[in-house]
Amino acid sequence: MFYNVDFPSGSVTYLFEEVFQSIERFKKERRTVYLTDDVVSGLYPDLFPAESTVIVPSGEQHKTMVQVERIITRLQQLNVDRSCLLIAVGGGVITDMAGFVASIYMRGLHFGFVPTTFLAMVDASIGGKNGVNFGLFKNMIGVIRQPEFIIFDPLFLKSLPQREWSNGFAEAIKYGCIFDETLFTNLFKHHLSEYHHNLSLASSIIRNCVDWKNRTVLADEQERGMRKLLNFGHTAGHALESVCLLPHGFAVSIGMLIACKISERVTGLSAHVTERVQQILVHYQLPIQNDFQVEEVMRVLMGDKKRTGNHLDFIVLEKLGKGSIVNLNFELIRQVLIDFKDASHY
Ligand SMILES: NC(=O)c1ccc[n+]([C@@H]2O[C@H](COP(=O)([O-])OP(=O)(O)OC[C@H]3O[C@@H](n4cnc5c(N)ncnc54)[C@H](O)[C@@H]3O)[C@@H](O)[C@H]2O)c1
Repeated sequence: MFYNVDFPSGSVTYLFEEVFQSIERFKKERRTVYLTDDVVSGLYPDLFPAESTVIVPSGEQHKTMVQVERIITRLQQLNVDRSCLLIAVGGGVITDMAGFVASIYMRGLHFGFVPTTFLAMVDASIGGKNGVNFGLFKNMIGVIRQPEFIIFDPLFLKSLPQREWSNGFAEAIKYGCIFDETLFTNLFKHHLSEYHHNLSLASSIIRNCVDWKNRTVLADEQERGMRKLLNFGHTAGHALESVCLLPHGFAVSIGMLIACKISERVTGLSAHVTERVQQILVHYQLPIQNDFQVEEVMRVLMGDKKRTGNHLDFIVLEKLGKGSIVNLNFELIRQVLIDFKDASHY
């Protein structure tokens, strides 16, 4: 099943429940170069010809400008020019870095994505945001540029460890919280262990999430309004991810609970909704607390891209399935973090 979406910055072809080999139809006689990480290349060695593959070490700590320079050096050694096609095969770290490199190398290469984690399939590969971290600041350097195609091959999920499934479900739960109570309820009906054996169930969740993200990005590709809603759980989450070195989805999980606590104060969100969000996170084996220093988290928040003076755009819930954007004073955020930490008994 495939469709095209025409974003202001470019058209993307989405291929769902397809096999990796569908990349052939996009090559169009162009020389193809692959970017992947050492875990994915180790699991699927037959997919990557040695003479046209750039392999980077796996992990968030490598999503840096240093790694970008290494990739560019390798592309130069391989004589890659603007007629080539770069295909990223991997999780969100790889799609984020590949999209960024493809946007700046020689002022732009053609590129496409084959996401291989649940997280990259439901979120990271969609929407055209590509970039790298800078010190403690997540995705501080980047561009918005759409890939030519995204191929969703569910067979990659067969090798995904349980922890990476949990990690990805944090983003699926996010869409339920901000847009879609039915999705939220539907997620509650299933268990993490089901998806390994039922890839068509996983694919239907992926399609649902991709639809929500595409709808949002179509309305606001440059993130001037509605797209900000996708940051639910991410503002505190990104700070925790950097400070506590948590996997992205784990940090977003705790970030969503903090955002619910803030919502209780700002929009009058019912504590019952916070309770349901907490229950679904536990259901998907996601963390709901972590040890952190409030002032360390605040320091990162104060360097956030969304800061204006003493305030920060923050995504809250009005109710389950309805997110909204508020401009919050840092003092309120600090107070909620202190209370949250106290209640977690850390
Ligand atoms: N651009 C966006 O809009 C956006 C949105 C959400 C998240 N992100 C970014 O995505 C990243 C997180 O994505 P992620 O969790 O996919 O990270 P990741 O790329 O680090 O993948 C997680 C782990 O799974 C391994 N892996 C990948 N595919 C596998 C497979 N099929 N089988 C077994 N192991 C596999 C990787 O080697 C890695 O160790 C973060 O950097 C986050 O900032 C970006």
